[in-house]
Amino acid sequence: MGNNIHPIFDRLLQKSDRERQLNQSAKVLWLTGLSGSGKSTIALHLERKLYNNGYFAQVLDGDNIRSGINKNLSFSADDRIENIRRISEIAKLYLHSGVITINSFISPTRSIRQMAKEIIGPDDFIEVFINTPLEVCEARDVKGLYKKARKGEIKGFTGIDAPYEAPLQADIEIKTKDLTIEESVNLLYEHILSSIKVK
Ligand code: ADX
Repeated sequence: MGNNIHPIFDRLLQKSDRERQLNQSAKVLWLTGLSGSGKSTIALHLERKLYNNGYFAQVLDGDNIRSGINKNLSFSADDRIENIRRISEIAKLYLHSGVITINSFISPTRSIRQMAKEIIGPDDFIEVFINTPLEVCEARDVKGLYKKARKGEIKGFTGIDAPYEAPLQADIEIKTKDLTIEESVNLLYEHILSSIKVK
């Protein structure tokens, strides 16, 4: 077989080729935080802001992942790991296509986020802690899930009877309690700008 192998790697398109075409450096922004902390809202507004400024970005979040590719997964500890493992692999595909992904998942433990970082590659992984206190998330209770969790109608709800481990060294922390959506998004946008500029 040996002689019949003709490596064509030098002719394959690289991540850097696609990045040049898209005029950006691809990164994975990893938003972690409690349910109701504002991850999805910030992700969607940031996606729009990036789009308006000529960047090519895509949000990945519970709605488009847990209702599709991960619809067979529950919220058990093991299934949360599998949820994040698959999402990380998907984010990596986007990354190598030159796309900036904005990932919005609770990703509740340090080891889960470490796994994501290892799959994606530490140089392209930007950890964003959406730091909203449980009391605030629970008071907002946009989806009514905290109320159900308190009544015992949902078991293993993050922050109530399942753990959430805050990041120890996030690249950036957004304290939404004291900020408007626009302020939160601007903070994040300014923070990532130097990383996503084409090299
Ligand atoms: S993760 O823990 O596996 O990262 P993911 O971000 O995909 O979670 O999904 C979280 C969303 O699922 C929450 O915002 C909430 O709407 C819903 N949800 C349903 N059951 C639970 C639960 N037991 N714990 C946390 N979120 C839940």
